[in-house]
Amino acid sequence: MAVIALKCPEIEVVVVDISTPRINAWNSDQLPIYEPGLDDVVKQCRGKNLYFSTDVEKHVSEADIVFVSVNTPTKTQGLGAGKAADLTYWESAARMIADVSKSGKIVVEKSTVPVKTAEAIERILSHNNKGINFQILSNPEFLAEGTAMEDLFKPDRVLIGGRETPEGAKAVKALKDVYAHWVPEDRIICTNLWSAELSKLAANAFLAQRISSVNSISALCEATGADVTQVSHAVGKDTRIGPRFLNASVGFGGSCFQKDILNLVYICECNGLPEVAHYWKQVIEMNDYQKNRFVNRVVSSMFNTVANKKIAILGFAFKKDTGDTRETPAIDVCKGLLGDKANLSIYDPQVSEDQIRKDLSMKKFGWDHPGHLQLLSPSAGDIKQLSVVWDAYEATKDAHAICVLTEWDEFKNLDYQRIFDNMQKPAFVFDGRNIVDVEKLRKIGFIVYSIGKPLDAWLKDMPAVA
Ligand code: UDX
Repeated sequence: MAVIALKCPEIEVVVVDISTPRINAWNSDQLPIYEPGLDDVVKQCRGKNLYFSTDVEKHVSEADIVFVSVNTPTKTQGLGAGKAADLTYWESAARMIADVSKSGKIVVEKSTVPVKTAEAIERILSHNNKGINFQILSNPEFLAEGTAMEDLFKPDRVLIGGRETPEGAKAVKALKDVYAHWVPEDRIICTNLWSAELSKLAANAFLAQRISSVNSISALCEATGADVTQVSHAVGKDTRIGPRFLNASVGFGGSCFQKDILNLVYICECNGLPEVAHYWKQVIEMNDYQKNRFVNRVVSSMFNTVANKKIAILGFAFKKDTGDTRETPAIDVCKGLLGDKANLSIYDPQVSEDQIRKDLSMKKFGWDHPGHLQLLSPSAGDIKQLSVVWDAYEATKDAHAICVLTEWDEFKNLDYQRIFDNMQKPAFVFDGRNIVDVEKLRKIGFIVYSIGKPLDAWLKDMPAVA
C-alpha cells in the first residue's frame, strides 16, 4: 500500500487495522515490521496521501477500492484442520464491508486464499447489500520478505483476476490503471478469478518444490561425495530450469510455503484428487526430513550426544534480512537439539529474545496428524537450557558446536580464528545455509559439515544418519 501511495500521488491510501498498538506503530518512527527500504517510503508518503487508522468502518465506507489483506492461517481445529485455510477473518471483513458500504466498491483479495473464495465472498457481499454493486477481484501478492520493496517496484508480474462480465472487466481495468502508474503493461496479467487465486498457490508450491528437490539431492550428495552447489549450478545452467531458488538449505520456512501447499493439498483432496494431493504433500515431508536430518547429523557427529553441551545457534529468522520467524527451520532444529538436552545459545541480528522464547515454547501443530498435538514443550520461562545473546562471539564462547541456521551476511565474515580459539575442542561447525568458507574453517581446525557437500573425514567415520 505504501508503494501504491508513492507511485500514485493522486490516490489517497488509508491502511486500517483494528489493533491500536499496530496502527500506533505504523504512525511512529519504529515501524512494526523490519523490511529494508520500507521506512523511507512510509516516511515520504505518510501524512500526504498515506494514512494509518483504526477507524476501519469510516475509511472502508468512503473507499472506492478495498484491499483485504487479513490473515488466512491454516485451520487448527474442525473440518480440514491441519490443511485448510481458516477464512474467519476474511468472512468477517466481507460482512463488515457489506454493512458499512453506501456506494459501489471494488473488493480486492490480497490475502492468499483457497480457490473459489471469491465466490463465497461475493455471496456474502451480495446477500447483505442494499442494491450496491460489489466487484470482487483477486490480486495475489508475490513479494518476498527482505526484498519486498524491490519486488514491488519491479515485479515479474502483477496478476489481476476478475469476473468475465462487463462490470468485472471494468473493475479489472480500474485496478490495472493503478498498477500501470509504474508497472509496464505487458507485466500486468489479467485472468479469470479462479486462475488468479490458483496461480498464487501454484507459484508458491512450485518454488517450495524446487527447494525440496535440491534438498533431496543434497542428501544424496553427502552419501556419494558429490557437491550440491556444483550440481545446482550445472542443473540451473539449463535455461529451461534456471539458476534461482536452487540453494540447498536446512529447510524452507516463512509464512507462505507450508501453509499454501497444505491448502493446495486440501483443495485437491476435496476435489477427489488424492494422487495430486499426495504429490504436493511430499514437498513438505521432504522439508521435515531435511530439518530432522540436520539435527541427526549434529547429534551423531558429536559422539551421539549433545546433552549439556553448549551449541551456538547463529540465525533464527526464516531467512536473512527479516526478523520474521514464522515456520523458520530454526524452531524445529532448536527443539530437536533441546530434546537431546543441549544447551543452546542463540544469536540473531533481528529476532528478539521474547520472540525466540515464544517460538520455542509453543506447541507444535502436527500438520499431518491434526487430531494430535505433539508433546508440550516446556513453557517459555522454563527453558533453562536456552540463552539468547546479542553477539555471535558471545554465543560461540565455550561452545562445542556452531549451527548456522540463517544466511545473514555477517556470519560469512566473522573472525572464525577468534571463535575457534574460544571454543571447546573438537570444535564443530554445522552450516545449514552453505555460507561459510569450508576450506578456510577446516584449516583453522574446525570440523565442518555443510549441507550437501563432501563430508569431513571425521563425519564420514560417524554412524550413518537419517
Ligand atoms: C515466498 C515467495 O517467494 C513469495 O513470492 C510469496 O509471495 C511469499 O512466499 P518468502 O516466504 O518471503 O516469499 O521468502 P522466500 O525468499 O521465498 O524464501 C522462503 C524460504 O525458502 C526461506 O526459508 C528461504 O531461506 C528458503 N530458500 C529459498 C531456500 O532454502 N533455498 C532457496 O534457494 C531459496
